[in-house]
Amino acid sequence: MLKLSYSSLLVSLVLATSTSAFAADAKKANVDKLAIQDELPVDKASQVHPLPPGWDKLPEGEFGEKVLRGYRAFVDTQELSPQYVGNGLNCVNCHSDAGRKENAAPLWAAYMSYPAFRSKNNKINSFEERMQGCFMYSMNGTAPDYGADTLVDLSAYAYWLAQGTLTGEDFDPADMPIPSDENLVKGGKRDDFPFMQAYLDNGGSKEPELHGRGYPKIDEPELEPSRERGAEVFAQECSVCHGENGEGQKVGDRYVFPPLWGPDTYNWGAGMQRVNTAAYFIKHNMPIGQPGKLSDQEAWDVAMYLDTHDRPQDPRYKGDIAETREEFHGGMSYYGTEVDGKVLGSESYPNHPNKAE
Ligand code: HEC
Ligand code: HEC
Repeated sequence: MLKLSYSSLLVSLVLATSTSAFAADAKKANVDKLAIQDELPVDKASQVHPLPPGWDKLPEGEFGEKVLRGYRAFVDTQELSPQYVGNGLNCVNCHSDAGRKENAAPLWAAYMSYPAFRSKNNKINSFEERMQGCFMYSMNGTAPDYGADTLVDLSAYAYWLAQGTLTGEDFDPADMPIPSDENLVKGGKRDDFPFMQAYLDNGGSKEPELHGRGYPKIDEPELEPSRERGAEVFAQECSVCHGENGEGQKVGDRYVFPPLWGPDTYNWGAGMQRVNTAAYFIKHNMPIGQPGKLSDQEAWDVAMYLDTHDRPQDPRYKGDIAETREEFHGGMSYYGTEVDGKVLGSESYPNHPNKAE
C-alpha cells in the first residue's frame, strides 16, 4: 500500500514546480490514490524529443505502483530521511520538473544513458549505481543497497518517462514490456534492452551525448570567475529565494527554497560543488523559471560564489584535506583551497548527520 502524507507532497510540489494544480480528474485507479502533479509546462521550442508521458499513460497494476512510488521518492525524497537522506534536499531540486525537464539532467535521458563508464569511480555504472552516487553526495546521505525497493521504484519511474520520449511517442502502456527488477535497475543502454531499436529509430543514440541530457556546457568565461562579482549576482538574483546566507527557506520543517551551502545541502563530493557543473545548471535553470537570464559570465561568477562556501565534508575524506583534494578534486573544485583566510573543507559539516544508528 502506498502511504502518502498529502501535506508533505503538497510542499514538495510547490517546490517542484511553479504550478501547483492537481490532476483532480485523473482516471486511473492508481492515480486516484495520490495527489499528482498536473501536466507541467515544458519548454517546447527547444524540445527535440516527444514530451514525457502524462499520468494517463500510467500502466495499470504493480508496475504502475512502482512508477508512482518512484515519482514520489523523487519529488519528496525527504520521505526517505533519515534512512537514506542526510540533508534538506529532494532529487527534484536539481532535476527539475519531476526529472522531466531537458537541460536539467532529466531522468528519461539518463535512463537511456546507462550502463556507462564514469571516471568518478573508474568503472561501468548501472543506472542504480549512478543514483547511489546522488544519494551519497548530492543528498549527503547513504546509498540504498543494490536492488533496494527505492532504487527499483526510481528506475521504474525513469524507465516509464523514457517511454514517451526516447522509445516512441505513442506508446501504449498496456503493451509496455515490464523488465524484471534486476534488469530495470541496469538502465536502457544495452543491447538486450527491449526497446533498443525503437529507441534508435526515435533519435536515441548509443553515444553519451544525447540532446537534453545533463546540464549542457556553456562557454568558458571570458574573465576568471570572481567571488566579488558572484556575490553581487547572488544578492540581486538569488538571495530573495535562497536566503542571504544561502540557507534556503523553510515552511514548517520542509524547505520550499533549498539551501545552497551550509550543513543541509549537497556535500563536497557532489557534482554541483564543481564550479563548471554549477555554472551549467544555473545558466539553464536559475533563477527558477527564467533559464538563460544570466550571462555566461554571471553564471560562472555566481557558481564560484556558491561553491566557495563550506558544506558537508566529502565522504571520501580520510583525515587530510590536501590528500582528498589531490585524489578526488580537479581544477573545477575549490575544496582544499584557501578562501578568506580559511581552507575550504576545514570547517565542513558532518556526513549524514541525522542517520539513525
Ligand atoms: C544538489 C543537486 C542534486 C541533487 C539533489 C540530486 N542530483 Fe542527481 N545529479 C546532479 C548532478 C550535478 C548530476 C551530474 C549531471 C551531469 O553530469 O551533467 C546528476 C546526475 C544524476 C543522474 C545521471 C544523469 C545522466 O544523464 O547521466 C541521475 C540518474 C541522478 N542524478 C539521479 C538523482 C536522484 C535519484 C537523486 C535523488 C536521490 C538526485 N539525483 C539528486 C545533481 C543532483
Ligand atoms: C524565485 C525563487 C528562486 C530564485 C530567484 C533562484 N532560485 Fe535557485 N532554486 C529555487 C527552487 C524552488 C529550487 C528547487 C527547484 C525544484 O525543486 O524544482 C532551486 C534550486 C537551486 C539549486 C539546486 C538545489 C540546491 O539547493 O543546491 C541551485 C544550485 C540554485 N537553485 C541556485 C540558484 C542561483 C545561483 C540563483 C541566482 C542566480 C537562484 N538559484 C535563484 C528557487 C529560486
